[in-house]
This record gives sequence, structure tokens and C-alpha cells, in this order.
Amino acid sequence: MTKRYAPATERNREAILAVLQDYLPDKGTVLEIASGTGQHAVFFAQHLASLYWLPTDLDATNLASINAWHEEADAPNLLPPRQLDVRDSAWAIDGDLPAPVSAIVNINMLHISPWSCCGALFVGAAEVLDQGAVVMLYGPFKRDRLHTAASNAAFDEQLRSQNAEWGVRDLEAVVDVAMGQGFACQKVIEVPANNLSVVFDKT
Ligand SMILES: C[S@@+](CC[C@H](N)C(=O)[O-])C[C@H]1O[C@@H](n2cnc3c(N)ncnc32)[C@H](O)[C@@H]1O
Repeated sequence: MTKRYAPATERNREAILAVLQDYLPDKGTVLEIASGTGQHAVFFAQHLASLYWLPTDLDATNLASINAWHEEADAPNLLPPRQLDVRDSAWAIDGDLPAPVSAIVNINMLHISPWSCCGALFVGAAEVLDQGAVVMLYGPFKRDRLHTAASNAAFDEQLRSQNAEWGVRDLEAVVDVAMGQGFACQKVIEVPANNLSVVFDKT
């Protein structure tokens, strides 16, 4: 199996960890949606030892990479990855976990997937999470329909030219979708490189 390597994960992981330390509960399983290479999963599991960390992704190459990172990791609380597409009608979370899912983390997916994935993410989250549980998003967002930096505008253009269904999302539109599934936006945190961490809780 081949470990994939995404340099950005090493640049953003400390800032994301600081938010996770502030907002995640002490116990339970964190369901990571769209884990990518698996580097974040190893790092967060090692730094959040009281939680189980469940990485997932829809892509088979990524799952192989997550497995490879998992095998080398010194992180007993890191669970083997599962295949999960947020658009699946039933997520692969079937009660066989060491602890119930107490939070969902989704990093850098909403702009690199069709807009329908945002709705699917919160529909699934509403099914899996109990009242008061958090969903944490991380990535670039527009605010009041405007890009927050020229670099994000250029990135948005590049994404849309790669795939017409991709693009930097409006934070307000994401919050509306989340509210429609019973989630309130608790906190928006500006993090380096013109990204945001957005914390929702289930009302
Ligand atoms: C830019 S990568 C981010 C990966 C990782 N979270 C990170 O920050 O390095 C986007 C990820 O979203 C995943 N993804 C895209 N559409 C998805 C979907 N419908 N359900 C689950 N994951 C999806 C891709 O497979 C990919 O791993």
C-alpha cells in the first residue's frame, strides 16, 4: 500500500488541532469525513488521545493511503478507515464502534465536491449525532458572497475550470443548509492562509 503525502496537511494541522482541542468533547468517536491521505487522522489521533478517530473517504486510493499511514502510526485510538461517500443513503457507521460518534470533522471537502455534498453532509450528520454534538468544517469560504482574499478568488477560478461543480462556497449558504438539518453555527474562527474553521452544534 502506498502512503500519499499532501504537504498542506503539515502546514494547517496545528491551527486545526487548536480548534479541535477547544470544541471537541472529551469522549467518543470523531468521524472524519473526507480524510484524504490520512496524515491528519494520524496527527489528530495522536494529539487527542481520549477520543477514538475514525477516518473515512470515498476514494479507494485514499483509503489505501490512510491504511498505510494507520499501519505505521503509534496511535491505538486511530480506527481503520472506512469507505464513506457523504451522499450514501446510510453511512457506514453501524454501531460496531468502540464508542458512539460524538463529533464530525470535515476538512477541505466542500469546495472540491459538488454543492449537493454540503446538504448530504448535514443530512448524514443529523442522523449520526446526538443533540449538542459538533460538526467542524475547515476550508476557504466566501463571506457575504465575497472572497476574503485574492488568493481564494484565484483558487476558486482554478477549481471551477477543473470541475464546474466545484468552487469556494458561501459561508452563509453553508450555514443555511446546516440550519435546515438542525445545526446552529456556534463559532467562525479565522485561521492562517485565509481559511476558516466553522463549528456547528446540533440543536
Ligand atoms: C482536498 S481533499 C482534502 C483531504 C483532507 N481532508 C485534507 O485536508 O488533506 C478532498 C477530499 O474530499 C473527498 N471527497 C470528495 N467528495 C466526497 C464525498 N462525496 N464523500 C466523501 N468524501 C469526498 C476526496 O476523496 C478527497 O479526499
